[in-house]
Amino acid sequence: MNIFLYGPPGTGKSTIGNVLARNLQLPFVDLDALIETKTNMTISQIMEQQGEAAFRDLEMSMLEETVGQASSVTSKVIALGGGALLREENRSLAESHGTVVLLMAELPALMERLKDDAGKRPLLAGDLRERLVSLLEQRRQHYASFTLQIQLDGMTADQCAAQIQTRLGRFHLSAMGEYDVIVGDVNQLASLPYQLQNPVIVTDENVAQFHLVKVGLILQSMGHEAGFVVLPAGEKHKNLNMISHLWNKLLQNGVDRRSTVIALGGGVISDMAGFAASTYMRGVQWICIPTTLLSMVDASLGGKTGFDLPQGKNLIGSFYPPRLVLADPQVIETLPQRELMSGMAEVVKHGIISDPELFDLCACGWDWVKSNLDQVVKRAMAVKINVIEEDPYEKGFRAALNLGHTVGHAVELVSQFELLHGEAIAIGMVVEAKYAERIGIAEPGLGRTIAGVLSGYGLPVTIPSDLPREEILRAMRVDKKKDAKKVRFALPAAIGKVQLVEVTELELVLEIE
Ligand SMILES: NC(=O)c1ccc[n+]([C@@H]2O[C@H](COP(=O)([O-])OP(=O)(O)OC[C@H]3O[C@@H](n4cnc5c(N)ncnc54)[C@H](O)[C@@H]3O)[C@@H](O)[C@H]2O)c1
Repeated sequence: MNIFLYGPPGTGKSTIGNVLARNLQLPFVDLDALIETKTNMTISQIMEQQGEAAFRDLEMSMLEETVGQASSVTSKVIALGGGALLREENRSLAESHGTVVLLMAELPALMERLKDDAGKRPLLAGDLRERLVSLLEQRRQHYASFTLQIQLDGMTADQCAAQIQTRLGRFHLSAMGEYDVIVGDVNQLASLPYQLQNPVIVTDENVAQFHLVKVGLILQSMGHEAGFVVLPAGEKHKNLNMISHLWNKLLQNGVDRRSTVIALGGGVISDMAGFAASTYMRGVQWICIPTTLLSMVDASLGGKTGFDLPQGKNLIGSFYPPRLVLADPQVIETLPQRELMSGMAEVVKHGIISDPELFDLCACGWDWVKSNLDQVVKRAMAVKINVIEEDPYEKGFRAALNLGHTVGHAVELVSQFELLHGEAIAIGMVVEAKYAERIGIAEPGLGRTIAGVLSGYGLPVTIPSDLPREEILRAMRVDKKKDAKKVRFALPAAIGKVQLVEVTELELVLEIE
């Protein structure tokens, strides 16, 4: 679907549109520039010689032409003139061919941007301030009627583009392979421009009950009779036996190097299907449709795939990103409440890592989050995407994502997976935050603040007393983040700030005050 940038003159629609198009690897169209090229006249000349009505007619036919092409080929980012959607027909055309994002800024910022090109904007000729105030007043209701609005003041074009992407849930990752991440209705799989051949859906028995038929039908509407492999559910099956079973099933389904594996499930399925895809015939394309909150905001992003050994979690794996991640927040309606809350631990984690506002939103509690799930999912995804784009292979900052995981993985393993992943991470985050306080890295009270938010979701925040400390320590030493003598921790220093610290005396981490 196209993205239309709209709003008053001076909001920088063309500059921001260019950045957005580059980020998303989509073509960019500046409608005014297109009109000028096609007519070989400037907008001012058209207005002066033919009048505003004739210009609006041109605008309309150019918009029709642009979206007409877009529906048949690929999405575009389209910057519109400041009055392009005043005509109802134009507005319907844009809204039926994509999403309109309204850019808005305060008067002084608009004035500043417009002061040098008044001659190019015939509707603002004369006293700029007076004309602009009057134009904004005339169009006040019109602009206010668009739902998706971005207030630009104080933001650079890059920041603005990033905010638009988060609001829309559209990202393109390129640091490790090229792939799109889209938050939206799973039905849009049918209209996205991806070449699929002989697709095989890999899912688990729980997800299959609710979502397999639907995805099968979507693929059928695209002309594919998809094969499927249904695995037993749960972390205890994320092992080499299951991978071997999966390789065999792919063979039986006639998967060859041009086929596409579709992982439909939570993190266990995406880790295993992704790993199988990375190794089967030296690598086949895969698509990820995450079905848990945790896999949407975390496991599906970043290209890490793998499985567990009895000695530790995720000890075997590969970096192998999918071609597409399509996350539909509606899919998680069928998720058991305990799994949902487990996913909230990772959302809170992302707030702690680099988005204090997200942390504050989490602090509003489940009722608020539930009714704003779409926004929360997109925002939490954006945090992870920023980190993995900066450091895809965990040479440095990506390790921040391991916040809570060194203790968390060990606790999860020692509980023999009685604790869900997110529950174990919740415990890990609080234990590690309290340790960070004790060694003077974190601000006092940080552990309690984090524990307060997590407890609000019914998540555990202390290590269960029946889990032997020695076993947890042993598991921490085997954790994949170990180097020879020390274990590297991602410790929270404040909400929004994580510090990587080498720890030698692991016992001190688990010390209880
Ligand atoms: N690769 C990575 O970067 C990464 C990051 C974080 C976590 N992980 C891994 O992810 C795994 C945890 O992921 P998870 O919490 O999604 O676990 P999961 O895949 O086991 O799913 C949790 C449970 O929910 C069920 N389920 C999934 N979607 C459902 C739906 N829509 N409706 C009803 N039931 C549904 C599953 O069958 C399962 O029983 C762990 O193995 C962890 O190591 C990987």
